[in-house]
Amino acid sequence: MIKFLEFKNFCDERGSLVSIESCKNIPFDIKRIYYLFKNSSNTIRGKHAHKKLKQVYIAVSGSCKILIKDGQKEQIVLLDKPNVGLFFDDNVVWRELLDFSENCVLVVLADDFYNEEDYIRNYDEFLEYKKK
Ligand code: TYD
Repeated sequence: MIKFLEFKNFCDERGSLVSIESCKNIPFDIKRIYYLFKNSSNTIRGKHAHKKLKQVYIAVSGSCKILIKDGQKEQIVLLDKPNVGLFFDDNVVWRELLDFSENCVLVVLADDFYNEEDYIRNYDEFLEYKKK
């Protein structure tokens, strides 16, 4: 259910650098980037599934947790490394974003533009969709 991508960390005495490239270390053509920050620690974001969208989540600063449900199993993963991405392929999974650290900046890479039609925002609808 969970796929992590590990990016090369070009680390030297000056600091660290991670490079992200479409269809190279990211398994799709990146069409959109957005980022979440200044989220309070007790907030829960996401609470939706995507029908087609592929995404990679990277905590480039701080940490947060991602709860993932496929309709049968569920798993919580911690994102706390700027050189690790959580890859959502085109499997339809429910995701919730929680436990944001104060300094968390979560960068999301996506293979398509924002399209509300691609969202399933109701959990019962998600379960119905998975049965089809
Ligand atoms: P929302 O879907 O509620 O965020 P999350 O899934 O993290 O809880 O999005 C918040 C608002 O931002 C909502 O009005 C839709 C808008 N939005 C865009 O316009 N473009 C985007 O790429 C995204 C992800 C959201």
